Amino acid sequence: MRAHLTKKIAAAAMLLASTSVAHAGDVEVLHWWTSGGEAAALNVLKQDLQGQGIGWTDMPVAGGGGEAAMTTLRARVTAGDPPTAVQMLGFDILDWAEQGALANLNDVAAKEGWDAVVPAALQGFAKSGGNWISAPVNVHSTNWVWANKSILDSLGISEPKSWEEFEAAMAKVKAAGKTPLAHGGQAWQEATMFDGVVLSTGGADFYKKAFVELDSAALGSATMVKAFERMATLRANVDENFSGRDWNLASAMVINGDAAFQIMGDWAKGEFLNAGKEPNKDFLCFRVPGSAGTVSFNSDQFAMFGVKDAGAMADQGAMAAAIMSPSFQSAFNVVKGSVPARTDVPNDAFDACGKKGMAELAAASDSGTLVGSMAHGHANRAAVKNAIYDVVTAHFNGEYDAKTAAEELVSAVEGAM
Ligand code: GAL
Repeated sequence: MRAHLTKKIAAAAMLLASTSVAHAGDVEVLHWWTSGGEAAALNVLKQDLQGQGIGWTDMPVAGGGGEAAMTTLRARVTAGDPPTAVQMLGFDILDWAEQGALANLNDVAAKEGWDAVVPAALQGFAKSGGNWISAPVNVHSTNWVWANKSILDSLGISEPKSWEEFEAAMAKVKAAGKTPLAHGGQAWQEATMFDGVVLSTGGADFYKKAFVELDSAALGSATMVKAFERMATLRANVDENFSGRDWNLASAMVINGDAAFQIMGDWAKGEFLNAGKEPNKDFLCFRVPGSAGTVSFNSDQFAMFGVKDAGAMADQGAMAAAIMSPSFQSAFNVVKGSVPARTDVPNDAFDACGKKGMAELAAASDSGTLVGSMAHGHANRAAVKNAIYDVVTAHFNGEYDAKTAAEELVSAVEGAM
């Protein structure tokens, strides 16, 4: 009787607790999925978990690429109040694992057989010291162009296959009085374009030498100078209000016919779908011209922060298992614009861009042309990434010419290592 009463009081107290505070049976999820397309995908996850009796306490931190979310995470951890589950990218996951902050997911991983189905490139960020420390929810890639089909059709432009053809296409759009390139002037968005431009200019081996191995000769090479020159061409093709614009508003410019192209990761497809647009009818998706055959990937993963409460631990395990279920991976990634983080999910439910993304990811993985996205934390640690961001964005905003930018890149990376 007494125990019953105590339970009742506890339940009432829980009900009284503010909605922003997680209670038993809830996972508090820190993420940066706040655009229309991202929120639609997040709902698939929320509903999946709710269907299993796991409540959701939302902790959204707006800001594409997740820098603001990571700042909030550090503050929460410092205050001794980490969220239970956190959306994270690449080297950030490994950093937190090395600090001993993340829960060990080996039990659920063994039970569900993750070792056999998660591609090695993703395991590199989901395991630390041989232990599973996060559940990968998707694979995105950054070297994509999103194009407004009716603008291209009306100007007689077909899909550009080389960088030169891409420049010619942009010139045609400009001559017709339209904005060639939709862009949001934020460092991470410029870095995202740089992923594709460097792949297009130098190929996968050069990209790896520069961004993964941080080879000074590659970073300061004539190829890198050329990549910066191409960035300057892109700068000449954006509208005058680009500064500070959010990425999804740049996507909206292509969706609404105010601009012809956007260079952005395939989360942009989520915006097109959310606006009721269809691939090959309303919009086109193709690799940054000159980069076909290569893929710069990033994988959103959910890491669980160490908790002591057995119930909360069980919920974390259940969330991790739910994220990795094949049916969820299909339903979620169809909406998000990404592709599944496991190799055994059929492509039936995916649209033309999704099918293309899945096939190209597998092919790039087989041929050694799959590279981690520098812009999204899969090529190097945050300090190096941020050093590269600074140079790329300063050059994009006219602070350096291409040659100086390559020199600055060498010294910025050396200083951050
Ligand atoms: C990426 C993330 C994507 C997408 C994008 C824009 O870093 O992997 O899921 O949300 O940022 O916010």
